[in-house]
Amino acid sequence: MKGFASDNYAGVHPEVLTAIAEANVDHAVAYGEDDWTARAEGLFRDHFGPTARTWLVFNGTGANVLAYRALCRGWEGVICAETAHVNVDEGGAPEAMAGVKLLTVPTSDGKLTPELVDLRLDRVGDEHAVQPRVVSVTQSTELGTRYTPDELRALADHAHAHGLLLHVDGSRLANAAAGLGVSLAATTTDVGVDAVSFGGTKNGLLGGEALVLLTDGIGEGTAFLRKQHMQLASKGRFIAAQFVALLEGDLWRRSAAHANAMATRLGERVAAIDGVTLTQEIQANAVFALLPAGVADAVREEFRFYTWNEATGEVRWMCAFDTTEDEVDAFAAAVEAACARVPAAR
Ligand SMILES: Cc1ncc(COP(=O)(O)O)c(C=O)c1O
Repeated sequence: MKGFASDNYAGVHPEVLTAIAEANVDHAVAYGEDDWTARAEGLFRDHFGPTARTWLVFNGTGANVLAYRALCRGWEGVICAETAHVNVDEGGAPEAMAGVKLLTVPTSDGKLTPELVDLRLDRVGDEHAVQPRVVSVTQSTELGTRYTPDELRALADHAHAHGLLLHVDGSRLANAAAGLGVSLAATTTDVGVDAVSFGGTKNGLLGGEALVLLTDGIGEGTAFLRKQHMQLASKGRFIAAQFVALLEGDLWRRSAAHANAMATRLGERVAAIDGVTLTQEIQANAVFALLPAGVADAVREEFRFYTWNEATGEVRWMCAFDTTEDEVDAFAAAVEAACARVPAAR
């Protein structure tokens, strides 16, 4: 089955599988005391700067929960977009496991701004209200948009001016950096970001994400918290080896740039079809669109994908490191044929 449902539907990049196989020799010290983990941590410092402290984890929800737990005290909360994955797709894990209240803000494109953050700063100092401690943004966003380095710098400056920290859910940070044509640091460390949940799985790993703390002095006890939150892998070398494969050369950028290019191609193809309206700018590896009634279901007879917004019928199509031009063209042709076939579309 090939489809446009999610970059998580893709398999493992062959170079990553090779790296896992190559790590599968002899015995190695468990729980992250192995050579692969040391190499991976060094690579994170190469990419994010010498202050980067890294904790490898199993999944993205775990990275976000660990970040919030490490950065917030019991009465503190996290400002985020209403559409943020942490708010809508993590089963309440930030609230249940990190014990933080999410202070959400509506946005049209998934992106926070200093002005939107201000909407949740009105009760700072009021003992009856949860106190904001972290501003959490997603880069690239759940709506396939991305922040420019300047936009992140403005958010970091604003957060810091109010005594808050800026966290990036970088499940697709590679797609944003590749799309912007910049380094990973240029969209994080260099613009004042304090903490990053860095994604690997959507970019071709079998499974592995990382919490990267960039600012000195934050995240007391993160190592203990990772264990408490069940995110410390005993055979850690196999998560680390995947990150070595991703970060040692340009695999992270190659894979992300390819996924982005496929989304751009798909956007161009479907935008030319009568009745299809793109609803978001394509700045990473996702395409959002409104279709005439009946078209989505007709296309789903052949391809799998999700309706993002049940109220409006808006659909989301995602590309991955292994999406091919032929698949994009076949999918766009299926959309075009359905638009011509389904009566409501004419
Ligand atoms: C923006 C974002 N953050 C975090 C995650 C969490 O990843 P996981 O499913 O590995 O917990 C996802 C997964 O889809 C995501 O899209």
